[in-house]
Amino acid sequence: MSLSSYVTLGRSGLRISPFTLGTMTFGDDHGWGSSPEVSKEILAAYLDRGGNSIDTANIYTNGHSETIVGEYLAADAGRRDRIVLGTKFFWNLHLGDPNGGGPSRKAIVHQLEDSLRRLRTDHVDLYWLHNFDPTTPVEETMRALDDLMVAGKIRYVGFSDVPAWATAEAATVARFRGWVPVSALQVEYSLLERTSEGELIPMAQAMGMGVLPWGPLKSGFLSGKYGSAIDADRVDTARGGLVGGPRAEHYPVIDAVNGVAAELGVSAAAVALSWVQGRPGVTSTLLGARTREQFETNLAAMELVLPEEHRSRLDAVSAPRLDFPAENNAVIGRMARDGGTTVDGVPSRAYPGLVGAKVY
Ligand SMILES: NC(=O)c1ccc[n+]([C@@H]2O[C@H](COP(=O)([O-])OP(=O)(O)OC[C@H]3O[C@@H](n4cnc5c(N)ncnc54)[C@H](OP(=O)(O)O)[C@@H]3O)[C@@H](O)[C@H]2O)c1
Repeated sequence: MSLSSYVTLGRSGLRISPFTLGTMTFGDDHGWGSSPEVSKEILAAYLDRGGNSIDTANIYTNGHSETIVGEYLAADAGRRDRIVLGTKFFWNLHLGDPNGGGPSRKAIVHQLEDSLRRLRTDHVDLYWLHNFDPTTPVEETMRALDDLMVAGKIRYVGFSDVPAWATAEAATVARFRGWVPVSALQVEYSLLERTSEGELIPMAQAMGMGVLPWGPLKSGFLSGKYGSAIDADRVDTARGGLVGGPRAEHYPVIDAVNGVAAELGVSAAAVALSWVQGRPGVTSTLLGARTREQFETNLAAMELVLPEEHRSRLDAVSAPRLDFPAENNAVIGRMARDGGTTVDGVPSRAYPGLVGAKVY
């Protein structure tokens, strides 16, 4: 696999790289990010290898991330059109203005104009609702996004961190109104956070949304720099202290990833990223690198196909406890299949519990 092994995003014709460049680390506003110079080096390294998908957000380093990306693209005019440029709206950058953020019509238009100015472009390819706002009517948000698509200011729409039921409602309303569809989903997804497998990822698969996992290294916990044997005296925590260190329940998974990496002679980051990218429903995993070295290490995941034995070991040690009705449905699904009551093409068989029993 390479960055130019482009894949279509959900049920759309948009082609993106199997790894999208995340830019949450770009800019030093939070005290733990990459300088503009290093950020532009990472951008160049990604794009020079054929990468075409960049993810930012209005909130990342309070707009600095978008500004850095915009400056970089403005310096190379031919490049902008070849890139799938994604940004997000929701977080309010206008202190004291109740309509400065969120998914209302007024707020979306305002936020997009600000992002286009910082990104120095006249359109965004993938415009993401960053978070869930239960108070704004979904019709208002989807109609505003459709207007922006018709006006040529955005091309595609994605939802991030929104409950599955609310995403499904928005997608269904949009479909029946003929509005711009929800083509993509961003969810936290890694060997240390698999609960999206319960509702969100099956919804994305059923409704034609491409999945872009964020936090694939759980803020670095799965990068190889943590482990039960090396963390006893650790005092520093991830992201300059913003994120605490791993919790006790994380270590069996972290140690398993480190063990697989040692056996295969690759980095732990490559193992964790390759695992995520190989999961059902995943389109393009978001790479989060603060330094050029981290970026290069992480990109090695593209060359790694996890042997089945190692993938199964990682699947087992990280198996999530999913919300109801996931387990119930798995059992009912098996019983129904055995009883011949499903519509999945499996030939009908008598359910063993019924054989010989009196049927009324
Ligand atoms: N939609 C959303 O709500 C949402 C949320 C979060 C992120 N995102 C997107 O997803 C992207 C990736 O997410 P993420 O930053 O959380 O990903 P991540 O890969 O889980 O974490 C990135 C952090 O891990 C550490 N790291 C990465 N590679 C490393 C390596 N090879 N060796 C050692 N440490 C390494 C670095 O931490 P240090 O800085 O401590 O070195 C880096 O800042 C973001 O850039 C953003 O575009 C979206």
